[in-house]
Amino acid sequence: MPTALITGVTGQDGLYLSELLLAKGYEVYGLVRGQNNPKVEIVRGIPGLKLLFGDLTDLSSLLRAVHTARPDEIYNLGAISYVAYSWENARLTSDVTGMGVLNMLEATRLYCGDDPAKVRFYQASSSEMFGKVQEVPQRESTLLWPRSPYGVAKVFGHYMTINYRESYGMHASSGILFNHESPRRGPEFVTRKVTRAVARITLGLQEKVELGNLDARRDWGFAGDYVEAMWLMLQQETADDYVISTGETHSIRELLDVAFAHAGIDDWSSYVALNPAYLRPAEVDLLIGDCSKARETLGWRPKVGFEEMIRMMVDADLAEQRTLGV
Ligand code: NAP
Ligand code: GDD
Repeated sequence: MPTALITGVTGQDGLYLSELLLAKGYEVYGLVRGQNNPKVEIVRGIPGLKLLFGDLTDLSSLLRAVHTARPDEIYNLGAISYVAYSWENARLTSDVTGMGVLNMLEATRLYCGDDPAKVRFYQASSSEMFGKVQEVPQRESTLLWPRSPYGVAKVFGHYMTINYRESYGMHASSGILFNHESPRRGPEFVTRKVTRAVARITLGLQEKVELGNLDARRDWGFAGDYVEAMWLMLQQETADDYVISTGETHSIRELLDVAFAHAGIDDWSSYVALNPAYLRPAEVDLLIGDCSKARETLGWRPKVGFEEMIRMMVDADLAEQRTLGV
C-alpha cells in the first residue's frame, strides 16, 4: 500500500485529494498546523486520514512529519492562497507560499538520502504566475509575469521545484493549475462568495453582494477533477510540469449570470453593488490555459463544465443556508 503525505490537507484541494487517495487504498497522512485550529476538527472526520502537526515555515516540524510518515508521495498543497490578502501580508505570504516550498523540498531531500527519487513530490503551482499574460492561451512555456505577492511567491516555489529536480535528480513535478472551485471553496473567493450570496438572497437572508472587478476573466474548473491530475503527475516515470485547465474563460459577469439564473433571477443588477475595496492594486485580467500536454501525456481531461459546477455550488449553498436557518 503506497503512503502519501499532504500539506494543506484542511484546504479545498486537500480534502478532495485525501478522499481520492484513501479510495485508491493509500495510507494518507495530512499535515495540520496551529493551536486550536478549528479546521482540524473537519479533517478528523475523514475515516483513515492520519494527522501530523507541522508548519511550512518550520523546517524541523516538516522533517519530523516526513520521517514519521515515510511517504512514497508528497503533495505540497499548503499555502496562503488568497491573492488579495497577499498585498496586506506580503512578507508572511512569501514565507509560507514561497519559502515554505523550499522547506518542504529540503525536508524531502534530506529524507531521501542517497536515493533522491525515493519520494515523488508534487508542487501546487498556479496560473496566477502568468499574471500580465504574455501569451493566449497560457501553456507550460509561457513567460511568467506575476502581478501579486502571492504570484511572486508561487514563481519562487515553481522554479525551486524545477531546480531541485535538475540539481539533485528528485522526482519533483509542478502542476500549474488554473482556478478550480467546488462547494468546499473558501467563501473569500469570488465563485463561492457569489454562490453563497445567491443562496442567501433567494432565501431572504441578504439583500446584496458587494464585488470588485466584474470584467476579469478566469478559466474555472472543478476541484474534484483537478486533484486527479495531481495524482496522475506522480504516477509518471519522469517528473515534469503540466498546465491543468479547461481551455474556456468566463468573466465575473458570466459567473453572476449563471449563478443568479439558477435561482430563477434573470436580472441581477439590483442585487450586486460595486465596492472599490475589492479592487486589487494590480489585476490579472485574463486567464485561459492550454492543457494539451496533460491531455496527451497524462490522459487527463476535465469532466465537470463551468455552468454545471456553478449550479452545483448554488445548490450546495442553498442546502447549507437552509440548514443554518433552521
Ligand atoms: P486553501 O483552501 O486556501 O488551502 C490552503 C491550505 O494551506 C490550508 O489547509 C491551510 O491550512 C494550509 N496552510 C496555510 N498556511 C500554512 C502553513 N504556514 N503551514 C502549513 N499549512 C498551511 O487552498 P486550495 O484552494 O485548496 O489550494 C491548494 C493549493 O493549490 C494552494 O497551494 C494554492 O495556492 C494552490 N492553487 C490553488 C488554486 C485554486 O484555484 N484553488 C489554483 C492554483 C493553485 P489552515 O486550514 O490551517 O489554514
Ligand atoms: N475574491 C474576490 N472577491 N474576487 C473578486 C471580487 C470579490 O469581491 N470581485 C471581483 N473579483 C475578481 C478578482 O479581482 C479576480 O480577478 C477574480 O475575481 C478571481 O478572484 P479570486 O476568486 O479571489 O481568485 P484568484 O484568481 O485571485 O486566485 C485563485 O486562483 C489562483 C489560480 O489562478 C486562488 O485560488 C489562488 O490561490 C490560485 O492560485
